[in-house]
Amino acid sequence: MPAYFLGIDVSTTASKVLVIDMAGAVVASHSEPHTLATPHPLWSEQDPREWWAASCTSLRAVLRDVDVDDIAAIGLTGQMHGLTLLDANNEVVRPAILWNDQRTGAQCAAMTAQVGAQWLYAHIGSLMLPGFTAPKIAWVREHEPDAFARTAHILLPKDYVRFRLTGAYVTDVSDGSGMALMDVRRRAWSDALLAALDIPRALLPELCEGPEVCAHISAAGAEATGLRVGTPVVGGAGDQPATAIGSGILQRGQTSMTVGTSGVVFTANDEYQPEPDGRLHTFCHAVPGQWFHMGVMLSAAGGMRWLQDALVPGSSYDELSALAGAVPRGADGVLFAPYLTGERHPHPDPLARGAFVGLTLRSGMGQLVRAVMEGVAFGLRDNLELLRSLGIEPATAAVSGGASKSPVWRQILTDIAGIPLYTVNSSEGAALGAAILAAVGAGAWPDVPSACNAFIRQVDISTPDPAAVADYARLYPAYRALYPALRASFAALAEFEG
Ligand code: XUL
Repeated sequence: MPAYFLGIDVSTTASKVLVIDMAGAVVASHSEPHTLATPHPLWSEQDPREWWAASCTSLRAVLRDVDVDDIAAIGLTGQMHGLTLLDANNEVVRPAILWNDQRTGAQCAAMTAQVGAQWLYAHIGSLMLPGFTAPKIAWVREHEPDAFARTAHILLPKDYVRFRLTGAYVTDVSDGSGMALMDVRRRAWSDALLAALDIPRALLPELCEGPEVCAHISAAGAEATGLRVGTPVVGGAGDQPATAIGSGILQRGQTSMTVGTSGVVFTANDEYQPEPDGRLHTFCHAVPGQWFHMGVMLSAAGGMRWLQDALVPGSSYDELSALAGAVPRGADGVLFAPYLTGERHPHPDPLARGAFVGLTLRSGMGQLVRAVMEGVAFGLRDNLELLRSLGIEPATAAVSGGASKSPVWRQILTDIAGIPLYTVNSSEGAALGAAILAAVGAGAWPDVPSACNAFIRQVDISTPDPAAVADYARLYPAYRALYPALRASFAALAEFEG
């Protein structure tokens, strides 16, 4: 039996292809970059044909190292929410509108008013956010009616690549949730929402579960990539749930914290339990029968990058960490509000900004660096508290991303979260999750948990220091009070700036 599983990750920056063996070891990998266009303020677009070209290049590259007959199945993952429109001849209608595009504020407000906020949160598992797909459909219909009239198929980024590989119009339920058109509890399109928003069901792809075989490589797909005709393709997952699978986050309470440029707190749940005010994403997981909650900080380790660039250019992360390590907990009374690029959770506010509060004549660079580390950790804690308000008590969490590489920052994250944080043995991210889903679809494992048990191990656990947990518990209310106190000032500053 063929013994390799292939994952394709159509991310914002690149199309990456990863091949793993039966032990989960990487046997080949290749990544090919994408370009990004911002033709107007707030806009973020890509040409879907570039995803396809980059995927073909990456596939052909790994097939130089791997015998194509050894590939048992393929899984796809990618950037979520991106609106991809095809006409009746399957030609791209306009550039794809990406997850980080912010043009649709008016459409979100109109959709929410039309169906009612509480009804909406209960169905789509979140506030309607400008990044989601549904308001982008409304935007195209309002602003580019000719393009909308020509549209015959609406797809998400990875599903465009799937279409080119197989000819099938399919998405999986985790990525489908991010279109904000599903009844997430039922793991199906919401007929009520589609009717209210006047979006024809026929435009949308079929839905399938993450490890389910939903299509096969077509003759055209094989010719373009070198893959074998008939190779099974599974549903796959959006990049966040795929990354979670790659860290073994599958069942209720299992949690991860990814502290890269942005910060993500991700927890699985075995029931659909949306946050009542829509302040988390509560979507279908790519593990059948599971859902997930996700809180997103738009600027996390990005805050340290800013500090470094703005105030200490040329310094290294190690030097900054050493400065922070020499300063006591609480940074001698300095707090940092980390909202440098606006915020998503728990304060959905595009006008939110960063702030240092509590500066004195004693505040030096060490205090500032430590305050940034602690402010980011408190922002992640805010998202953990939203989970706790739903009755979910993570006992530990997997940690990854740039911030976790600094021992000082890692301990701050641990002490402020108040739970042990561990790393896992792989850092291949979303592409690994997609390959694991392919392994399950190929029948190599009966379900996703068994595959993850075979592949993923916890390494390197950091434990909270009780004295530090107590100190941070005293400081946390002061952090919590920052955003409400500063919100009006943030709005006034944005208006002043024009
Ligand atoms: C998820 C999200 C991002 C994108 C791009 O809600 O917006 O993770 O999927 O990576």
